[in-house]
Amino acid sequence: MNARGKIRVPGDKSISHRALILGAVASGESRISGILQSADVHSTASVLRALGVSVPDLSDSFRLVGKGLRGLRQPGTSLDAGNSGTTVRLMSGVVAAHPFAARFEGDASLSRRPMKRIAEPLTAMGARFEFARDDGLPMTVHGGRLSGISWNTRAASAQTKSAILLAGLSAGVQVTVIEAQRSRDHTERMLTSLGAPVEVDDTSVSLSPVESIAPLELAVPGDPSSAAYFVALAALGGSREVELVNVCVNRTRTGFMDKMMEMGARIDYEDREAVAGDSSATIVVRKSRLRDCVVSGARIPAMIDELPLLACVAAAAGVTVEVRDAEELRVKESDRISTVARNLRAVGVTVDEFQDGFAIRGQKKKLAGKVVTHGDHRIAMAFGVLGAIPGNAIEIDDPDCVQVSYPGFWQDLRSVG
Ligand code: S3P
Repeated sequence: MNARGKIRVPGDKSISHRALILGAVASGESRISGILQSADVHSTASVLRALGVSVPDLSDSFRLVGKGLRGLRQPGTSLDAGNSGTTVRLMSGVVAAHPFAARFEGDASLSRRPMKRIAEPLTAMGARFEFARDDGLPMTVHGGRLSGISWNTRAASAQTKSAILLAGLSAGVQVTVIEAQRSRDHTERMLTSLGAPVEVDDTSVSLSPVESIAPLELAVPGDPSSAAYFVALAALGGSREVELVNVCVNRTRTGFMDKMMEMGARIDYEDREAVAGDSSATIVVRKSRLRDCVVSGARIPAMIDELPLLACVAAAAGVTVEVRDAEELRVKESDRISTVARNLRAVGVTVDEFQDGFAIRGQKKKLAGKVVTHGDHRIAMAFGVLGAIPGNAIEIDDPDCVQVSYPGFWQDLRSVG
């Protein structure tokens, strides 16, 4: 293999959603470049349009004129969040502070995901929620006057934390969120960079009332969750050495890279830069010899979306990886504990499944078989990496589901293989 493979992964999904939402409620014109143009982010854009915000077609660089903190209007239709949990949970927080009702719906996967985790704190603040079934979408949020709150979240969830922060921001009331473990912190970092009075103390975040927030001037850095697939492939020796340009290296997101380094992966960060209260870097990865590992407790949130990939790394490297305290995986786009276990077994790997995780007992051997993604983009890409290892023969039932977060994934994978 010759020259380094260079990849610019698309913009960070979490930051892209927040850029649209914060731009929509800011006072003035935001300038946003590098936004992720994927199905999930299109869902946020179309929900905002239905609420009266003039969001232009997403492109590499665009402007967005904000409506101010309580300037949304009652939608004439249901708000379709598609496959995107971030869209429905964050937007519920914003809508809860407006004097109208809005009905959220989503695809079959999103409709199975729990919404009480946001409904409970937002109800305690003064909104009213109506569920067609016990939990999950469709769900109607009746907004109104909200009061401040101090809330302990049960699971570490940036979506729940952000729903409460955005409700507090929109309503102009004081909110505090206390988490058992720290989840990704983009909302608080971005709010701070727009002039909002945010205080962070270990696992607690408080936002004090403000009249308005400033518009954004933001270049969205690359998504570390998307970069992770190429970090894995290069470390496993399934591709050339790779250079991943301009990736967000926020510490609440780089748990996978950190764990891979502890397992022996040769990963270097170069050219660090500051972006919107965060930092980005070029990540260089070389073929490495990997060791067994265990991941649990407070290490889980910073790599929650990469745990299916870590399982595939164990399978490809012939090492044992045990993941515990990750029950949240059961309520993602699919039940990622059972999806990972079933699919790895289907291609010939020994797996123990636990309620809160799995143990993957990789062996040095060729893997072959069919993978059922259940429409879950991260399952498709994690097993895509496994399939790109020379000698493996993995068939993925729905490769197109990568549209959710990384439309050019298969092309980029071929470019380094
Ligand atoms: C996200 C938070 C995480 C993550 C999801 C994106 C966000 O979900 O899994 O892909 O942008 O806030 P939870 O908050 O449910 O853990």
